[in-house]
Amino acid sequence: MSEEQKSWDSSQLRNYDIELEQIPRYHFQDPKVDERISKNQPVLITGSKLVKSAEEKWNLDYLGKHLGKSTYTVFLSKNHNFKYFDEKKIYSKSNPKGIEFKPPTQRLEMNIHEFMKKLKDWKKGDDRLYLQQTLNSTVGPSIVEDYLKFDWHFVADKKNKHMWGELTSNVLFISMEGNVTPCHYDEQQNLFAQILGYKRCILFPPDQFECLYPHPVYHPHDRQSMVNFDNPNFTKHPKFKNIKGCETVVGPGDVLYIPIYWWHHIESLLHGGPTITVNFWYKGGPTNLQYPLQDHQKVSIMRNVEKMLLEVLQDPQEIGPLLRAMVLGRYTDP
Ligand code: OGA
Ligand code: ZN
Repeated sequence: MSEEQKSWDSSQLRNYDIELEQIPRYHFQDPKVDERISKNQPVLITGSKLVKSAEEKWNLDYLGKHLGKSTYTVFLSKNHNFKYFDEKKIYSKSNPKGIEFKPPTQRLEMNIHEFMKKLKDWKKGDDRLYLQQTLNSTVGPSIVEDYLKFDWHFVADKKNKHMWGELTSNVLFISMEGNVTPCHYDEQQNLFAQILGYKRCILFPPDQFECLYPHPVYHPHDRQSMVNFDNPNFTKHPKFKNIKGCETVVGPGDVLYIPIYWWHHIESLLHGGPTITVNFWYKGGPTNLQYPLQDHQKVSIMRNVEKMLLEVLQDPQEIGPLLRAMVLGRYTDP
């Protein structure tokens, strides 16, 4: 995108004291796109027609009219952060193995008219909303038609070339301006297709694990960083000072490849109006272990060790002490 066409400015970005490079942007026909994907390196892909059928039509009015009568998953937050949590890991009578946890956002089911009305009437200081709904056949015939017109050849080509597994889902994100999805990683390959408005995406490679302090795997915030980017606690998280990452701003027509296990923080630009995204989540490819291991494979190994320890110890409280006893003074520098 040339400077003249740029439809946002840096005052719309939140301020973080982090060293960030720009993620390279390449036209979808540029061979560098596949070079980067094959190395699990992020890349911003321009000019593809992946979700053009949606870009031409999907705005709040159209979606309000055509999304149909079913209910949609909407998260409500008292602030701009929408930190994901796994409900299956929260304690309840039916889940005595879960842990005590107060969810930072509320999960609501809403019909689309209710959601669109709240979006239109929203004033600074009101609760914030973020619709995050897996696309399925209940979305109504017009939306299904637009969906079927996505450039499925484009994504099938990426899947085949790079030996990804199955497409698991497409999530529709409808966000208020200024909403933030805090830093986390997913265990899937992601083609993140922007439809309306602008989002800033900050990415970190899997080897930044130690700087980002992920919650334990048994915790409802599994895969989420414990660091609060708005106000980092350097006493608790000293290595966050050394964090290095890369960023880009995606706009309509852009597709960002977010590699499996790469950390990402995503913010809808301030004062930029609502944003709409559809992602394409693919399972990772077959895991043939070739040495030296890749960084994301080491993260996967750590996840498995954590899961196994919980399985045998039963009590999450015992995992830390056991790991400390095993490691400190033995596997740590003197
Ligand atoms: C994702 C993701 C969050 C957002 O697609 O993996 O984390 O706010 N999206 O778009
Ligand atoms: Zn994600």
